[in-house]
Amino acid sequence: MRKLSNILVTGGAGFIGSNFIRYVMKNTDFTGTVINVDNLTYAGNMHSLKDIKSEFGDKRYFFEKADICDKSKIEDIFKKYNIDTVVHFAAESHVDRSITGPEAFIKTNVFGTFTLLEVSRKFWGERHDVLFHHVSTDEVYGSLGDTGFFYEDTPYDPRSPYSASKASSDHLVFSYFHTYHLPVTLSNCSNNYGPYHFPEKLIPLMILNILDEKPLPVYGDGKNIRDWLFVEDHNSAVWAVINNGTTGEKYNIGGENEWENITLVHYLCERMAHFTGKDNDYYKKLITYVKDRPGHDRRYAINCDKLKNQLGWKQSVDFAKGLDKTIQWYLSNSDWINTVKSGEYLKWVENNYTARG
Ligand code: NAD
Ligand code: DAU
Repeated sequence: MRKLSNILVTGGAGFIGSNFIRYVMKNTDFTGTVINVDNLTYAGNMHSLKDIKSEFGDKRYFFEKADICDKSKIEDIFKKYNIDTVVHFAAESHVDRSITGPEAFIKTNVFGTFTLLEVSRKFWGERHDVLFHHVSTDEVYGSLGDTGFFYEDTPYDPRSPYSASKASSDHLVFSYFHTYHLPVTLSNCSNNYGPYHFPEKLIPLMILNILDEKPLPVYGDGKNIRDWLFVEDHNSAVWAVINNGTTGEKYNIGGENEWENITLVHYLCERMAHFTGKDNDYYKKLITYVKDRPGHDRRYAINCDKLKNQLGWKQSVDFAKGLDKTIQWYLSNSDWINTVKSGEYLKWVENNYTARG
C-alpha cells in the first residue's frame, strides 16, 4: 500500500473527477489533502463539488483554477502543496466534439499530459515514493467485431481524434516511465455513467431529453455496443490501482456489461416512464434515428481480469440499480441541471443534431 499525502487531481470539476474526489474524501480512509486543478471548460462545473467544498474546503480540499498546459502555474501548484501523487483526469472527453474541433483535444490531452509529466519529473527527481496515475479509455484499442475483448496487451488502434489524443498521452506516460523512471500507473476504462454526467453523453442526454419530451437521437442503426460501468466503481478501481498497482503497469477497468445503444435507449425510456408515472412505452415515440457518427466504433468490451485477480477489485453496483440511482439523481437535482443548461452546451447540442439531420 502506497503512502499518499497530497493528491493533485486534474479535471476534478468534471464528471468522473468530481465523483473521484467525493469517493476519496467520503468512502476511503485517506486523511491527506486533495488539490483539484481544473480550468473549468464547458464540462467543468463547480456545483458538482458544493458538498465537498463546504465539508472539507480549505482544510483538506483545495481548488486551483489552472490550465494543465500552463507549465509555470502547474509548477507553482506542485511547490505550494508539495504534491506526491497525480491522478490525471483532465481531458477533452467527448468524441463528437473531437470530430468537429480536434485542436483542443491535441492541446489538452497531448500537450497538457506532456506538461504534467514534465513538471512531475522535474519536481520529483529520483523519488520512488510518488506516483503519476493516468486515467485513460478503452477507446485507444479501437473497435471490436461481434466477439472478443480488449486486454491490456491489445494493440492500440484509435479511430477518432479523441481516442488518438488519449492513445498519444498513454504512450507519453509510459515513455516517461521507461526513459526517466517516473513512477506511473495507467488505467483504461469503458463507458461510465452516474450522477454529475455532462448531458452531451448518451445516458444523461437521453434522460434530459425524455424529461423535456424532445427527440432521442440514436446514431446510425443503433446497434453499436458499449460496456457500461457505474462511475463509483471506476473510481474504486482507480483508488485500488494508485494504492496497490504495480508501477509501470496498466489496468483495464470495465463493467462486463454490454448494451446495444438502441436496447439501452428503450430500457431508459421504460425506467423513465416508471419514475414519471407514464405508460411503459410512452417515451419510445421520441426515438429518432440520425446520421451516424463518422468513424463510429462498433463495439467495445473490456476484459478486466488483471484488476480483479491482482488487486481484488470488483464492481459493487449492478446496472439496473445504478441506472435507477442515476435517473433518480437527475430527477432530484434540477439545480445542477440548471447550472449546466445556463452554459453554452445547449447551443452545441442543438447545432450538432441539426447538422446530423
Ligand atoms: P469531463 O469532460 O466530464 O471532464 C473533464 C474535466 O477536465 C472538466 O472539468 C474540464 O474543465 C477539465 N479540463 C479540460 N481541459 C482542461 C485543461 N486544459 N486544464 C485543466 N482542466 C481541464 O470528462 P470525464 O468524462 O469526467 O472524463 C475524465 C477522464 O476519464 C478523461 O481523461 C477521459 O478520457 C477518461 N475516461 C472517461 C470515460 C467516460 O465514460 N466518461 C471513460 C473512460 C475514461
Ligand atoms: O469508452 C469510454 C469512452 O466512453 C470515454 O473515453 C469517452 O470520454 C466517453 O465520452 C465515452 O465515449 P462514447 O463515444 O462511447 O460515449 P457517448 O456517450 O458519446 O456515446 C455512447 C454511444 O451512444 C456511442 O455508440 C454513440 C451513441 N450515441 C451517443 C449520443 C451522444 C447516440 O446514439 N446518440 C447520442 O446522442
